[in-house]
Amino acid sequence: AKSRIGVTGLAVMGANLARNIARRGTPVAVHNRTSARTREFMEAYGDEGAFTATDSLEDFVAALEKPRRILVMVKAGAPVDAVIEEISPLLDEGDIIIDGGNSHFPDTTRRTRACAERGLRFMGVGVSGGEEGALNGPSIMPGGDPAAYAEVEDIFTTIAAQVDDTPCCVHVGPDGAGHYVKMVHNGIEYADIQLIAEAYDLLTHVAGLDAPAIGKIFEEWNAGDLESYLIEITGEVLQKTDARTGGPLVDVIVDEAEQKGTGRWTSQDALELGVPLTGITEAVFARTLSSLRSERKAAAGTLAGPVPGAGEDRTDLVEDIRQALYASKVVAYAQGFAQMRAASKANDWNLDLGAMATIWRGGCIIRARFLNRIREAYAEHGDVENLLMVPYFTEAVADAQDAWRRVVATATQQGVAIPAFSSSLSYYDGYRRERGPANLIQGLRDYFGAHTYRRIDADGSFHTRWGQDGTEVRTDA
Ligand code: 6PG
Repeated sequence: AKSRIGVTGLAVMGANLARNIARRGTPVAVHNRTSARTREFMEAYGDEGAFTATDSLEDFVAALEKPRRILVMVKAGAPVDAVIEEISPLLDEGDIIIDGGNSHFPDTTRRTRACAERGLRFMGVGVSGGEEGALNGPSIMPGGDPAAYAEVEDIFTTIAAQVDDTPCCVHVGPDGAGHYVKMVHNGIEYADIQLIAEAYDLLTHVAGLDAPAIGKIFEEWNAGDLESYLIEITGEVLQKTDARTGGPLVDVIVDEAEQKGTGRWTSQDALELGVPLTGITEAVFARTLSSLRSERKAAAGTLAGPVPGAGEDRTDLVEDIRQALYASKVVAYAQGFAQMRAASKANDWNLDLGAMATIWRGGCIIRARFLNRIREAYAEHGDVENLLMVPYFTEAVADAQDAWRRVVATATQQGVAIPAFSSSLSYYDGYRRERGPANLIQGLRDYFGAHTYRRIDADGSFHTRWGQDGTEVRTDA
């Protein structure tokens, strides 16, 4: 019998998705560029389900029922194009190529068009949840032709995480929409992780606690509003003892954060769309700053300022830090969802933002109790421009703001960098200002470049002849 789906690319994500699909009763053909990996896969997992191992792409394609469903699990970028080029000539009209990696959404839109010209259907599918999620239930964000999605929907919804009997998988939209939403998911993941890192830094250097003690605090936080996968694993990571030194493992991990691109793409697209995305963008910059390790080493001995850790014991700040973390998290999600809203309008994707919150409740890296609140916000208030304006979040931030301000002030005084905490607070303060200082920016632009300004008391565009007689002229009449 032929397989219902094929997976090519048997690195850990591909292997675990193939196992997940097969374990739930769907026959899967497997393929890898180097067949040794396919053989290893079969030796280790071949008895978990109905696998057909194939050595060549020809055999792989021949093993599949039609329309062929081909899940490509290779590294984002050129390898995806290479697989498409190689496999397309072997396929028939209507066959479906599914890219389950972290591809950049414009690539997905381009590939969708190129495949369509060859009579093939292409889907860009965001898959989140890391290795464990791929095996036991990820969150799945499929983008592409709805008719193609209908051909794989049962497979995807069966392997996805389930929350309240609802699969964490829903058709996101056409073209690159699925990968777009996955990209923003990852951007939010960056913000969440950065906020956690800043809280850890403050608890270490301002509150004076050691890693295991902070791990316990995260465990406690995970029982409240902050309950989430990332807070939970922070508790575990901080309490892990290093076998070599006998001390906390985190204390011997090099403080340089790496990144593969999805966070940076999120920020880049926010700049293109004109959406203020400060939380995620500061998180990306914090990773890039962390990677300047040798420069930081030199600067540490040169640049003046308070030395974190030199202050007195401030365990009284623990609860403040929790509240600051929650408020900043609200801002980061409000920004991320505002970005998806803007992208949906710009690309005509008709994204259902409440559904995105729904499929992120389980399986994915940012899964959290909090996402139920976002789901409810969209259910009750429809197409809101900014989640901060939904009563639950308005109140949550109002309640947290005194603590948030104390944390930002204390960190600033003590020389602890908190780019995500402080930029989120500045965004909040900027967003709630009816009149900000951009009037001066406009005045300056008009002075040096005759860029014109609008007035609050008259329609039209104006320019002052700064260097001449100083009179104002209307420029659009
Ligand atoms: C997920 C993760 C996954 C991966 C990130 C990490 O949703 O399962 O987001 O996609 O872990 O891409 O990204 P960085 O390597 O850029 O931190």
